[in-house]
Amino acid sequence: MVWRGVIDKYRKYLPIGRNAEVVTLNEGNTPLVHATKISREVGSNLDVYLKYEGSHPTGSFKDRGMTVAVTKAVEEGCKATICASTGNTSASAAAYSARAGIKSIVIIPKGRIALGKRAQAMIYGALVIEIEGNFDDALRIVREIGEKYPVTIVNSINPYRLQGQKTGAFEVCDQLGGKAPDYHALPVGNAGNITAYWMGYPEYKAAGKVPSTPVMLGFQAEGAAPIVRGHPIQNPETVATAIRIGNPASWKQAVNAANESGGLITAVTDEEILTAQKMIASLEGIFCEPASAASVAGILKLSRTSYFNSGEKKTVVCTLTGNGLKDPNIVERQAQAPTILPADTQKVVEFIGL
Ligand code: F0G
Repeated sequence: MVWRGVIDKYRKYLPIGRNAEVVTLNEGNTPLVHATKISREVGSNLDVYLKYEGSHPTGSFKDRGMTVAVTKAVEEGCKATICASTGNTSASAAAYSARAGIKSIVIIPKGRIALGKRAQAMIYGALVIEIEGNFDDALRIVREIGEKYPVTIVNSINPYRLQGQKTGAFEVCDQLGGKAPDYHALPVGNAGNITAYWMGYPEYKAAGKVPSTPVMLGFQAEGAAPIVRGHPIQNPETVATAIRIGNPASWKQAVNAANESGGLITAVTDEEILTAQKMIASLEGIFCEPASAASVAGILKLSRTSYFNSGEKKTVVCTLTGNGLKDPNIVERQAQAPTILPADTQKVVEFIGL
């Protein structure tokens, strides 16, 4: 079957009109990879899979929601989209708006988004505004503009975004052969994705596609963990700039996802995030961005406690939300720099130790 994107594949679960002109980049159908070595690392009773959302057309999971949000925006006659972003939403909004032939306005925190993401919004032709503030400030501005002016907000406060993102859950179930995993781990920033997955799994169960739903595990960065602390964080800080958010829009829904599924939302340190990012790349061959690695950092952390000690073998899916190529600067901090040698075969051979 030819893959034509998540609306084509899951249309009956999505609020898309019969005559809608679908705006798609053939997103979805991302790899679900068994993580053999990380499974070993977390102990014998866990089978870990990585859902690599970094393989999307704009390099993050945002494309699942953006195809639905922009398709609806066009259907409703909108001429411009607007979003606040830590970088991935803006890249995706800019790309899908370009594809639809409508204007895209993106508001990002100055100096705090990864290089590749900033470049993406620029090359797709968005009007890029950098504010002297953080993501929470940017989202406040976007909400205020959206209330007064004829622009469509495509942040996850737009309900169509979450509708699209819930297809991530459907896909995991399909790829596991009609089963939901026992646990689903993911990073939490503005808290839309965990909310969307927790819409998707129960919906698939209700449709008779899977017999059960997973326990949802959400992980925030220690310095940007408002849900864990129980109050907004004024100046969130983390190396994982994608989830540097102090007051998540879908806070309540995320707590609800954790509670209803019997799961939890907890924090991981920047060091744990970077260690996990390196492990995922060097042990499994997948380069994800730091925020994505929070999911794996989280299950490594829980596996060091008695959390997973149930005896029987359990399946864990970790969503790797974005592509590591977006944020190359971070690698300099944790991987060994290349060795510089003269252009001399003998010297190279000696250095390798052959
Ligand atoms: N991982 C990555 C790579 C992200 O870009 C984001 C969010 C998250 C995880 C967290 O997902 O917000 O649904 O809880 N990025 C948003 C953005 C905020 O603007 O790109 P969430």
